Amino acid sequence: MNPIRIKDKQFAVSIPEADILKEVDRVAAEINRDLAGKNPLFLSVLNGSFMFTADLMKRIAIPCEVSFVKLASYQGVTSTGKVKEVIGINEDLTDRTIVIVEDIVDTGQTMQRLLETLGTRRPREIHIATLLLKPDKLKVDLDIEYVAMRIPNDFIVGYGLDYDGLGRNYKDIYTVVND
Ligand code: IMP
Ligand code: MG
Repeated sequence: MNPIRIKDKQFAVSIPEADILKEVDRVAAEINRDLAGKNPLFLSVLNGSFMFTADLMKRIAIPCEVSFVKLASYQGVTSTGKVKEVIGINEDLTDRTIVIVEDIVDTGQTMQRLLETLGTRRPREIHIATLLLKPDKLKVDLDIEYVAMRIPNDFIVGYGLDYDGLGRNYKDIYTVVND
């Protein structure tokens, strides 16, 4: 079904938009039910989650706020090398109900880093909503309450996710085709 090529790789549609949106509907309904009255602050992690965030927020019917953060990689001065810093948190998180909105949880290391950083800002509670989860790759013990879809280990693009910066614009999710 509509194969595409990005650089050296070929991809084919694996999750059509309609199937994605059905699961986004379900996750939104769960959040509307669970977090009513808590004025949650959704923290969307750029760049990958921009499309998921837009579709999710259109379906959130309870009073809430939304803001965007980014993880900046920089070369640390210590021997540990790459350090990821969370940038863009301008809100006071004290006593807030936070919902982290991610595109994909793979090993879980990115999410763990986010939780550590946000935890120092004294929020009341932190929930996790992810579009995708690769359960077989998860290395960290995480309580991920809201998962739109669980997928195998294959590399995917589309609906916000990229291969080397490309492919974020596709409305469907594509999986790499082994050749
Ligand atoms: P983690 O820290 O290992 O959980 O990795 C999470 C990050 O890896 C995501 O935010 C994505 O940027 C990237 N990633 C993991 N799997 C994929 C994939 O299949 N396609 C595109 N990006 C991915
Ligand atoms: Mg991400």
